Amino acid sequence: MSTAEIRRRFTSHFADHPTLAHTAVPSASLLLDDPNLLFVNAGMVPFKPYFLGQATPPFQRATSVQKCIRTPDIEEVGKTTRHGTFFEMCGNFSFGDYFKEGAITLAWDLVTKSLEHGGFGLDEGVLYPSVLEGDDEAVAIWKRVSGLPDDRIVRLPPRENYWSMGVPGPGGPCSEILIDRGPQFGADRDWDAGDRYLEFWNLVFMQDDISAARSKYDVDIAGKLAQTGIDTGLGLERVAYLLQGKANMYETDVVFPVIEKAMELTGKTYGASYDDDVRFRVVADHVRSSMMLISDGVTPGNEGRGYVLRRLLRRAIRNLRLLGYEDPALPELLPVSRDKMGETYTELHSGWDRIIRVANAEEEAFRKTLASGTQIFDLAANDLKQKVASSGAPAVLSGDKAFQLHDTFGFPIDLTLEMASEAGLSVDEQGFRTLMAEQRERAKADAKAKKGQHADLSVYRDILDTVGPTDWQAYSTLTTESKPIALLREGKRVDALGSGEIGELVLDRTPFYAESGGQAADAGIIEFDGGRFEVIDVQRPVKGLVVHQVRVVDGEFATGSAANAALHAQVDADWRLGARQAHSGTHVVHAALREVLGPTALQSGSYNRPGYLRLDFGWTQGLTPGQLTEIEEVSNNALRADLAVSAQYMSLSQAKDWGAVALFGETYDDTNVRVVEIGGPWSRELCGGTHVDHSSQIGTLVVTSEASVGSGNRRIEAFTGVEGFKYLARERDVVHSLTDLLKAQQGDDLVGRVGEMMERLKAAEKEIEKVRIAQLLANAGSIAEKAIDVDGVAVVAARAAGAGGGDVRTLAMDVRARFAADRPAVVVVLGDADGKVAVVATVNEAGRARGLKAGDVVKALGPVLGGRGGGKDDLAQGGGTEVGKIDEAIALVPTLVR
Ligand code: ALA
Repeated sequence: MSTAEIRRRFTSHFADHPTLAHTAVPSASLLLDDPNLLFVNAGMVPFKPYFLGQATPPFQRATSVQKCIRTPDIEEVGKTTRHGTFFEMCGNFSFGDYFKEGAITLAWDLVTKSLEHGGFGLDEGVLYPSVLEGDDEAVAIWKRVSGLPDDRIVRLPPRENYWSMGVPGPGGPCSEILIDRGPQFGADRDWDAGDRYLEFWNLVFMQDDISAARSKYDVDIAGKLAQTGIDTGLGLERVAYLLQGKANMYETDVVFPVIEKAMELTGKTYGASYDDDVRFRVVADHVRSSMMLISDGVTPGNEGRGYVLRRLLRRAIRNLRLLGYEDPALPELLPVSRDKMGETYTELHSGWDRIIRVANAEEEAFRKTLASGTQIFDLAANDLKQKVASSGAPAVLSGDKAFQLHDTFGFPIDLTLEMASEAGLSVDEQGFRTLMAEQRERAKADAKAKKGQHADLSVYRDILDTVGPTDWQAYSTLTTESKPIALLREGKRVDALGSGEIGELVLDRTPFYAESGGQAADAGIIEFDGGRFEVIDVQRPVKGLVVHQVRVVDGEFATGSAANAALHAQVDADWRLGARQAHSGTHVVHAALREVLGPTALQSGSYNRPGYLRLDFGWTQGLTPGQLTEIEEVSNNALRADLAVSAQYMSLSQAKDWGAVALFGETYDDTNVRVVEIGGPWSRELCGGTHVDHSSQIGTLVVTSEASVGSGNRRIEAFTGVEGFKYLARERDVVHSLTDLLKAQQGDDLVGRVGEMMERLKAAEKEIEKVRIAQLLANAGSIAEKAIDVDGVAVVAARAAGAGGGDVRTLAMDVRARFAADRPAVVVVLGDADGKVAVVATVNEAGRARGLKAGDVVKALGPVLGGRGGGKDDLAQGGGTEVGKIDEAIALVPTLVR
């Protein structure tokens, strides 16, 4: 049965159920905005607020096939039958509707229903339901529903049958359906033999509110959820390989074509050797995962999501190289995966240009990395081999070197291992791992420091649970009369804040815009009786709750005091106007960008604050000055046209019909999204920001820079409003100053004049250079005359004050040329420029015939001059730091020659 058919049967089983019809919900982006998750890793993630009671679900039952990414087991990919970094999870969900009995009945029905009747037709004889030890209720239901005997219901510990997200959120006991794949995969009733008793459907009985999680099952339960729910996850790939009679998830109808393509490219056969098979499977898995990630808006980078993508892409490329294919691989492989996955995810087709551009840019970068890293490796390997030959050192490449290759050149350790073994060397892996562990620790400490006070969200969740969401007035007013709801200091609830102290304040109502959607938080003040707060930052750590970071600038604040119960919140009006200008300016630049570059130029991130904006977009080449000017012009024309700006609410599908641009990584409420329009269809974006009413209010838009920010991404920066004028005024001042300096008239061709001056300067510099060399060489004759005779060899050792390496060499060669060809001569010149010594030695042919070598002279002078050098017999050069030792070196030369 094809993967598409399995998906269809699953959805239809739930959506078309005669008595329990579920709403079919499309897959959410892989990048939902959950501060605790890098990627969506389970079907329930988009529904989390419904389970927690933070939002009212628009349906009581839902079903979905959700894209998921899990990368902690990336090293296992290809080695087992069932580890994939990308997978699709089919799920059915109940929010306060059916519970254990309903979930078990629905699942058992689909799994065992015959193929003709739309089920999966699995044989009851090989199915084993598992439940959490002690969940007698689930055991009884299973027996009743399936008719299976007691010993076919397996009781397992929490490690297997308790499920949570591994982070604070909903959780509960679960029940899985295992399929026995036969004794060739493991011992009877060895439930841990994952390949024998393969679990393919997990039914979670959501009932607990989890406040802290050390792992998926080791959790602190804060209490019961307001209502129970059901969350299930059926692994689409697992069912596909079971029903297709394949050995593993990489051989299904959707994934295997990539392996076939890889066989074609490499000329190797899948199934011939274990090591190669693992490589084929890694390629197939990673190609698909990275394509899906790029499609959802991730671009390769060095941290977070971008790093995961980079790692996937590079592992795919490298594994194909290990299989023997060294040409660019992604342009060959990605289209194969697109053709399969694109049947379901049509955005792979519409976004293809961008996807392949991002992938190719990364491959190109990696190929360069490989080239330079290989050179470093070769140097290190040769060096090591020499040491092994000369001093019998062990043939082990140091952990330091392996780490450098990894850290600086992106060489995965197994690539270093492979290359080392080809060179007959081994690698100090232990040393490497120690350095890696140290680096990881540093990164962890970093991440912790960055997350700061928002790492533990439970305190905000408690506030939200007790008082409900903030009455948020940022769209309608700049001032509100508010009541304090909660006060925190360093993440803990407190009753008072003294003068000068910083804390966090939650109000029942606020006009302050919390940082989101790229727009910086509002600034302003909050007054209380007898004092006031300055607002430093405003965030929404949990959905619905606005938290002000404040400093008491006047007086003292106590929550218990009746006088402090009524507050006056006041957003700084200038600030807000600037913020509106900058945010609308960002939309204008985005629209202009798409007008000039085409619709594939899509924003991948943005940030704006009063007077300034930056916009990152997926694009691989730098923009030409012409394109940049055009973007600025299109933008300013839009300002001058005084386009109307408006915000309206609609359903997500209507917004998409409207052509509104939805940005990656944002979570949108399906039924009620906000669309900001500038000039009707000219710019339509899903956006929660604050905007001007007319585009002319942006004032001006001055593009100041355009540059690369990581592969496949560019950044445009611009000033808006008064900042734009100020920027232009500064430029004008520069022109004025130049005009003055050049004693030019206003309107003179300044650029022409500066250009002319630079030409003249260059010519003058050349002239000076000629004179300098002539002067230097003028001394050559008298230097040669001062040669002393050492056993028939003319020896010159002279100082050229102020001369650097190139000049010293010119002089030395010139002096040497002044001796007759049959007179053996050794010439050494030492110069001192910029506090450093430059030394050149040269020996003529007659001198070389006497066995004299320039290289020996320079080498011997090295230690005296505090440096090193060397070269050939006829000419050698070096340097050092000991300018004070030049005379000593000169005195040494005759002795050396002798
Ligand atoms: N959320 C459950 C899982 O991921 C179904 O296994």
